[in-house]
Amino acid sequence: MDWRHRPRCDETPAWAALQQHFTQQFSGTAAFDLRQAFAQDADRAARFSFDAAEVHSDLSKNLIDDEAQRLLTQLARECGVESLRDAMLAGERINTSEQRAVTHVHWRSESKDATAPDRQAPAAPENIVNLRREITATQSAMLAYADAVRADSAFTDVVNLGVGGSDLGPRLVVQALRASGVANGPRVHFVANMDGHELAELLPELRVDSTLFIVASKSFGTAETMQNAASARAWFAAQGGTDVARHFVAVSSNTAAAEAFGAGRCFAFDEGVGGRYSLWSPIGLPIAIAIGSAAFRDLLAGARAMDAHFAQTPLARNLPVQLALLDLWCRHFHGFGSRCVAPYHHGLRRLPAYLQQLEMESNGKRVDTRGRALSLHTAPVTWGEVGSNGQHAFFQMLHQGTQPVPVEFVLVRNPAHALPGHHTKLLANALAQARALMMGQAGDAPERHFPGNRPSTVLLLPDLSPHSLGALLSLYEHRTIVLGALWGINPFDQWGVELGKRHAGEIEAALHSGDVTALDVSTAGLLKQLR
Ligand code: F6P
Repeated sequence: MDWRHRPRCDETPAWAALQQHFTQQFSGTAAFDLRQAFAQDADRAARFSFDAAEVHSDLSKNLIDDEAQRLLTQLARECGVESLRDAMLAGERINTSEQRAVTHVHWRSESKDATAPDRQAPAAPENIVNLRREITATQSAMLAYADAVRADSAFTDVVNLGVGGSDLGPRLVVQALRASGVANGPRVHFVANMDGHELAELLPELRVDSTLFIVASKSFGTAETMQNAASARAWFAAQGGTDVARHFVAVSSNTAAAEAFGAGRCFAFDEGVGGRYSLWSPIGLPIAIAIGSAAFRDLLAGARAMDAHFAQTPLARNLPVQLALLDLWCRHFHGFGSRCVAPYHHGLRRLPAYLQQLEMESNGKRVDTRGRALSLHTAPVTWGEVGSNGQHAFFQMLHQGTQPVPVEFVLVRNPAHALPGHHTKLLANALAQARALMMGQAGDAPERHFPGNRPSTVLLLPDLSPHSLGALLSLYEHRTIVLGALWGINPFDQWGVELGKRHAGEIEAALHSGDVTALDVSTAGLLKQLR
């Protein structure tokens, strides 16, 4: 099937069959019950478990049966998911609204001489051959720079100034690998918010001669990052710093603007790398400085292992595809409006925030790629908190609220710390929550009754290493893209953030001038309060 002429999920025969199956098996009084499903089927857990690269997954505690899974897999086939995947990997311009190829995967493909491709593999198109050559050169230079910064004892602190995709992925990875003891380079800080409190709190901890600022912005025009970069440079000058070129480095697709800013070096990347998919590109510089080039290459290798699984595994056992199909099943057929992510590892505490951008900026869309309004709901709300903290906050609602919320538990088998007792308790709590959500409990009073039959998924990593983390994040990326493909939307653009930016510019001007004539009455009233 040509990826350009793929049907949308609700235009396929499988969709109609799924609707019928859902009505018969999952609604009304005879609705599907997880407890019965397990009681009647000893192999259920095995059949709904999948292994991909470093990730073991158990999807069996979801409100799904074999027939639904079969029809969903057929749906993926009828929607041409494989053709879109192959087109992405081949460098075709699948980001149609921006007329761009989607290239983040190439930043983690095998680092070898692009002019001498593997004889077994089909020849890559010329644009990709050229791109890979540039990637190899940039990556080598970026990693050499990262190792040089690590080796330079003059640099004790590195500050990444970036927001959205230029912050969330690198911040998550650095935190995760710090918890694992892999991030052993200089201290790496992240400042994202245009709220000056964030930068102001950090600056007193820094010394001008031992700090490196990374200005991380694909566009080199994002208001938050430009404001923070200007303030950091002003602070640097005020502290007597003179060598801006040594202390400010840029990562961007807009090299001219980075140069005009005064950054000593700019590691450039192509427009095909979307912000929320960019941690593999030079946007990963703070990661490389924190963990070193060898570990950074391990991160890429882990992602590559998941890419290979995604590219080669039949749809019925393809984990990113099966997770996306499950998401669609939960969102559309069950009507669940949100998805909770509960990582049971301190290092993954920013995973929900990272996924919020990845999933909701990618798939929070209301029209398909042909501009037609969708008559079904897209991205559910992604939210969550690190376990076990969430248990003492919102898990009450998960157990006894009026609407089920599918929960995704992310577990790590081996801890990196040696404190006895903690990790066993942590893992036990995660499994206990998933089991309690499913089993429920008949109560001796209404308020002590737990309905149960509440869905959850477990993703399990062997450890939190660069390799396994790379695989996990690649899994999430592909799942998001497949879900977008099923909905027929473009998961690579983000026009929805533009309108607010334009209003912010106008309101900022009005805050300076006091002229509110162009504003609505409410905004004008608030603006007067603020002046
Ligand atoms: O707010 C939207 C957005 O464009 C994101 O998609 C992006 O990750 C973020 O802003 C930062 O963009 P940039 O890297 O260009 O500063």
